[in-house]
Amino acid sequence: MHDLINMDQVSELANGVYWVGAGTKTFLSRNSFLRIFKGNGTTGSLLIDPGPTNDLDSLSQKVSAVLPGGLSKLNLVFINHQDPDVVGVLPTLTKLNQNLTVIATEDTWRLVNLNGMSQTSFRAVDRVQGQTVGLPTGHKLQFIPTPFCHFRGACMIYDLESRILFTGDLFGGIAATGLHATEENWAGIKAFHQLYMPSNEAIRLAVKKIRALSPAPLALMPQHGGLIKGELMELFMQRMEELQVGLDIIISLTEKLPALIAGLNEILEGVKEILGNDEVHRIMGFFKPDGTYPALFTLDHADQVKDIKGEPVEAVEALLRTFLRFASEDQKALLQPKILQILLQHGLPPFDFLLTRDDQPMELTVQ
Ligand SMILES: [Fe+2]
Ligand SMILES: [Fe+2]
Repeated sequence: MHDLINMDQVSELANGVYWVGAGTKTFLSRNSFLRIFKGNGTTGSLLIDPGPTNDLDSLSQKVSAVLPGGLSKLNLVFINHQDPDVVGVLPTLTKLNQNLTVIATEDTWRLVNLNGMSQTSFRAVDRVQGQTVGLPTGHKLQFIPTPFCHFRGACMIYDLESRILFTGDLFGGIAATGLHATEENWAGIKAFHQLYMPSNEAIRLAVKKIRALSPAPLALMPQHGGLIKGELMELFMQRMEELQVGLDIIISLTEKLPALIAGLNEILEGVKEILGNDEVHRIMGFFKPDGTYPALFTLDHADQVKDIKGEPVEAVEALLRTFLRFASEDQKALLQPKILQILLQHGLPPFDFLLTRDDQPMELTVQ
């Protein structure tokens, strides 16, 4: 079950905490957050991870709905790191509002300010005593660096009143269908981390820092995908601690990968005999880059696989399932044993979906 929140509008997540993100209907959604502080007879506002240039209209509309004067009245902007999906709109914000102060790590700002923002007021997280800052309204913010998740200078921000931890790309996911995460979001989170995070060690260090927070956070709010609350936090943290990503995957598959690619290319030849060259070419087209998501395979002009991205076994499974989906029943009956035979000849694991058809076990012979 997914929530029915209208993501064309601002959404209040907790007292004074608003979701002002965009693109939640797209593969890689962007979450931006507006925090409005009130206390000691004064008010203040903080925008967390403003977003890409493309999201300006959506951001402006949502911020204006809850902050009188909109973007031109913002006080503070926090940025997790310098990727375009986080900071693209920032140069425009600093032009709209000369009084804006940006908060980030020095490693991040060294790169971001090259976008014509050298005159912009900046506060370095690195110089905040005890990594906690007090605001005139009486609120406190804590900064938690997460080195190499995924940038060297990436940093989370913890709102100690709402107890919401804004995690940036960490815990972000693709293909989310609602604003709030459910257990189903894990697949998209896993895929995003396998692609963008460099190593399990970096993730473990970050999760350790989250576990050490006092008081413990009530929600993890990443820059992409579903917002994570309640028991899901612990479940996803545990899975994250075990997740092999980036370099871990590359190193562990360095030896096995050539065998998998060779086997896959042989399978492709076998599939062409059954489905025909044109159909195989059409299906392989689904896996070519379209600019929104990295393709699973690097192909040459003859649709031969040169490289596999992400987790190879999952990529191969996705491809084989696609071939079967477009095959007729008669073609399926030929394809399944053919594919199995080639996998086994190359010393590769069979997939369970190749072993059954209409719930009947298939007879398997390897020549
Ligand atoms: Fe990023
Ligand atoms: Fe991002």
